[in-house]
Amino acid sequence: MPKTQTITEISDGCEVDSLFLLESIDIRKKKQDGKYLFATLADRTGRISCKIWGLPGHSADEIEALGKNLMPGEVYRIRGFAKIFNGECEININDGIADLAAPAVIQASERGEYVYSPVDIKETAIAIQNLAGTIRNGQLKLVVSLALMDAGGFYEKPAAKKRHHNYRGGLAEHTLETATIAVAMAEAQKSYGIDRDILIAGALLHDIGKALCFEEKGIGYAARPEYDLIGHIPLGITFLTRFMDYLDDATYLHLLHIVQSHHGDYGDVAPRTPEAWAVHLADLASATLREVADDTAGLAPGEGKWKGEKSGKAVYRI
Ligand SMILES: [Fe+2]
Repeated sequence: MPKTQTITEISDGCEVDSLFLLESIDIRKKKQDGKYLFATLADRTGRISCKIWGLPGHSADEIEALGKNLMPGEVYRIRGFAKIFNGECEININDGIADLAAPAVIQASERGEYVYSPVDIKETAIAIQNLAGTIRNGQLKLVVSLALMDAGGFYEKPAAKKRHHNYRGGLAEHTLETATIAVAMAEAQKSYGIDRDILIAGALLHDIGKALCFEEKGIGYAARPEYDLIGHIPLGITFLTRFMDYLDDATYLHLLHIVQSHHGDYGDVAPRTPEAWAVHLADLASATLREVADDTAGLAPGEGKWKGEKSGKAVYRI
């Protein structure tokens, strides 16, 4: 069947019957007995949540078996109805469960219809490379450009499974935001003597480990086991050890410290230098604003949500 409906065309109460990319699937317990599936669907125009309830005759085991059979990264026919829940439009599926037995076959030329990416990846890559080009320490500049190149697919990968910047190009967008905010801090607080070179290098490489956490799966990206089993900070630190001989000891130590401490007081190691604090605060600013912007995107003035999907906090549009 051709794709006849886009996500931006779906509103409260409308019937849904079209092809969408399945990005993720969770098996969840109903409040009373039974199970349902919680999916995230996507196309070129956006993303939407989808709850798969099935029919009254479906047992919890049947729902769970379907959840295990569905393949993120594949396109499915989604047949159901849209409803507002917690301030957000979502799709509900009852008898449309029958259409989820197998994915639809998509031609290579149609794949772009299903990729959600609000980022201009080319422009973002150029801006990152331009900023890296302003690093005056030649060896440090070299390490930054080699690291961004060696961490395969850095500019296309997402920054997260579910939270901030979790779309194609999101890692590069978040990295550029973090570095731009960090540089703005250093410029606003000129008298503090912040080392601009290590600040930019640290900001551009702070999440380099995330590039190692995702791999292409169908149309889209899936987290590798390393995402949960090791975590992006140890992966980034391990990755950067290959550049140890390019830098003097102090610069190498400072770069690793910025990467290691960028979660601030939430991480294993707190920032101990002004540059490490600046990268942590810039990272937090980029991540938090993205989450709140995503959570408020579908709200009309005067509307709010008791719990935003991304931020996990109450949000409001005034
Ligand atoms: Fe980050």
